[in-house]
Amino acid sequence: MRHNSPATALARGTGQAVAKAILLGEHTVVHGTPAIAIPLPALPVRAVARPAAGTEAGASGSFGFVAGAAAVAGDDRSGPRVAVEEALRRWGRGAETVEVVVYCDIPLARGLGSSAACAGAAVRAVADLYGRDLDPGELYDLVQCGEQVAHGRASGIDASAVLASGPIRFQSGSARPMPVGLDAALVIADTGVSGSTQQAVADVRRRLAADPRAARRLLNRAAALIDTGADALAAGQTPTLGSTMLEFQDLLGELGVSTPHIDTLVAAALAAGAHGAKLTGAGLGGCVLALTDTHAAAAVSAALRRAGAVQTWTVRTADLRAGALSLSASTPERGIPS
Ligand code: PMV
Repeated sequence: MRHNSPATALARGTGQAVAKAILLGEHTVVHGTPAIAIPLPALPVRAVARPAAGTEAGASGSFGFVAGAAAVAGDDRSGPRVAVEEALRRWGRGAETVEVVVYCDIPLARGLGSSAACAGAAVRAVADLYGRDLDPGELYDLVQCGEQVAHGRASGIDASAVLASGPIRFQSGSARPMPVGLDAALVIADTGVSGSTQQAVADVRRRLAADPRAARRLLNRAAALIDTGADALAAGQTPTLGSTMLEFQDLLGELGVSTPHIDTLVAAALAAGAHGAKLTGAGLGGCVLALTDTHAAAAVSAALRRAGAVQTWTVRTADLRAGALSLSASTPERGIPS
């Protein structure tokens, strides 16, 4: 329901976005290669915006912030707050103050796009509060303003994927739907370790800058792997996609963003029958993504937990293809306040 009168105490707006996983192309996408990502609707974020007065902060999994003219100077400049303040400024509402409460079911700093999803849900909630229709380009731009704070220099893949309705191929700021002809499963395993995207992106940038010719060779290799992976995903060639993921994991290791814990989880997934596995997102912790036949998904998921994953989720690629994404979690899902 739309609330066009934010001056009333009862006015509020709501917005949603979802988690994402990068199948291939993290880090190299910052330097111009394509990347493939999927939205994960069973890990949602919901935001509620009100004109400044009394927040709901405190519920499990939630955080709140005040954005706009009366926000406390020096207060936390989080990505979602930056995105909302940019929206207020662009909409000629820079003199106003809003309170936003974000209910986030996405584990933070695990490579699943929590910062972009929180910013997307928050901006959508503030737009709803003011009865504004947001076009996708404007929403993407606003989320990207927040992402530049969260990532240092963000490629835009997170901002695209957390707002997308299906798998995307992303390159240099634009996304297009990615065809999926695969009948397999993706198991996402949480290392339980927070990875700093900003640090990982900065480390990779330094490493590439140190040897530009080697960097060019590595980026060409990455682009070729992503093409191979995209073809395999569309044509339903699970073993080819799996081996491509493994090669991309090697490349991410060369970039210095894998860890012994991630390598252990990758090895455990392979030993349990996965076709391939790699880190997903920025690395230095975060999550591992394993590709497996659907009948082996439970065994791969159990092996990952035995090897130290704190939680796992399974996505069926058939659901990606149908555009009706679903996810089964190894841990009970947290409730989302309605
Ligand atoms: O770890 P996440 O979810 O923030 O993913 C970051 C993806 C990177 O390629 C490492 C950075 C970027 O902006 O593309």
